[in-house]
Amino acid sequence: MKNIIIFGAPGSGKGTYSDEIVKRYGMGHISTGDVLRAQIQAGTELGKTAQAYIDKGQLLPDSLMIDILADTYDALPEGQGVIFDGFPRTIPQAEALKKMLAERKHDMGVMIELVVDEDTLLKRLLNRAIEQGRADDNEETIKARFAVYHAQTEPLSEWFGKEGIRHTFTWKGDKELMLSEIFAFLDTL
Ligand code: AP5
Ligand code: MG
Repeated sequence: MKNIIIFGAPGSGKGTYSDEIVKRYGMGHISTGDVLRAQIQAGTELGKTAQAYIDKGQLLPDSLMIDILADTYDALPEGQGVIFDGFPRTIPQAEALKKMLAERKHDMGVMIELVVDEDTLLKRLLNRAIEQGRADDNEETIKARFAVYHAQTEPLSEWFGKEGIRHTFTWKGDKELMLSEIFAFLDTL
């Protein structure tokens, strides 16, 4: 399978659909949020730095994230394709990803954009707060994450459009339908 960049607001389903895609196509999965949460759990220096940003719903500095991403990518087995979940989130991160992959004679593959209305996103995240207790799933931090998404990440959608690899899937209230639309597209690759 080609590389896949899964893109969307907090709660849009990046992690959920990545798991389904991995199950169907057997590829690698890098969730930068999961990488950072594991560092927090392990109590590392990076974890301490990450926590300060994540608790406020802010993005970590690009230079730090770009290094983390390259190290994580290089640790995966080559040739099976990777889903990038939560990276890139800024235009410098996107430029860096493109360059990093080109240096390894790989390419970005396709970008899957998940578009979900904000009421649904908020409901999902508040529900996850009850089920899983993720520290950044409280209303104040969720609102900050939405604001950061609109200001810093959403403009990237256009960037991917110009790269000619953007494929947009819009939430119509049915998870199985969304999944079957995504699979129908990925099956053609
Ligand atoms: P990250 O962990 O990436 O969080 P996020 O972008 O806010 O996204 P979420 O993981 O909350 O949502 P998701 O889209 O994966 O949705 P999910 O499938 O879980 O990043 C966290 C933080 O780390 C950032 O704020 C930042 O500080 C830092 N960070 C990470 N990457 C960075 C980077 N590149 N640069 C700088 N900083 C970075 O779904 C949500 C919930 O909805 C689940 O409980 C799911 O079960 C449920 N759900 C219910 N119905 C559905 C449905 N129909 N489809 C999908 N999910 C559904
Ligand atoms: Mg996630």
